[in-house]
Amino acid sequence: MAAQVKSKQRVEEHGEVFTNEREVNAMLDMVKQETERIDSRFLEPACGDGNFLSEVLRRKLAVVTERYGKSQLEYERYTFVAVSSIYGVDILQDNVEECRERLYGIVKDTYEQQFKDDCRPEVLDSIRYLLSKNILCGDALTLTTSDGKPIVFPEWSLVMGSKVKRRDFTFAALLNVSTDMPTLDMAADEIDLDEMGKRIPKPIKEYPMTSFLEVAKYE
Ligand SMILES: C[S@@+](CC[C@H](N)C(=O)[O-])C[C@H]1O[C@@H](n2cnc3c(N)ncnc32)[C@H](O)[C@@H]1O
Repeated sequence: MAAQVKSKQRVEEHGEVFTNEREVNAMLDMVKQETERIDSRFLEPACGDGNFLSEVLRRKLAVVTERYGKSQLEYERYTFVAVSSIYGVDILQDNVEECRERLYGIVKDTYEQQFKDDCRPEVLDSIRYLLSKNILCGDALTLTTSDGKPIVFPEWSLVMGSKVKRRDFTFAALLNVSTDMPTLDMAADEIDLDEMGKRIPKPIKEYPMTSFLEVAKYE
């Protein structure tokens, strides 16, 4: 079993105690259907090295393999969707890096198991890029990065075959939509109201559509 504590100091300073696999699975089983929906969005605001996110990813990829294992392009597109809908934040940079690496390793192993020498490096490059944008180092209480800037998450939508649309939102704007929290420290123009008075977040940036194999060219 993996160690649940890295050091006493980290426990005292950051409450860092990792959840064991049995508990992770028991908790995820409470939302089993969502964990097996390829495009369901998961955001963990204290993700550590990814105990929950890696299991969510494994479950989604099992569905991708079962449904699309015979068609490489479909498999690749839906693997992109599975990863692009997983988000995490942690305050410690080493946890963020370990989490990204762990999720990347799961995708790579599963892909290679399925398609062996036919695996395309550009697919894995896109996955790496997604993880660098979706798993972020920051403070989930203040919703800022270590240099005081707002945490920003991209929303990825696969549209028209293999094309992807990216829109960036601040974490604060996303939270103000899903809760009735008083407005956090954020620009008022990050939130809109729909005709029913429901809050909808406004993207702070929209990108031109591109192939899912070329998202890394965005910046
Ligand atoms: C109890 S551990 C849980 C880790 C992981 N979710 C798991 O279950 O294995 C809490 C995690 O939250 C992180 N953390 C503590 N304060 C935080 C904050 N303000 N914002 C983001 N992450 C934070 C710690 O670095 C640690 O990785």
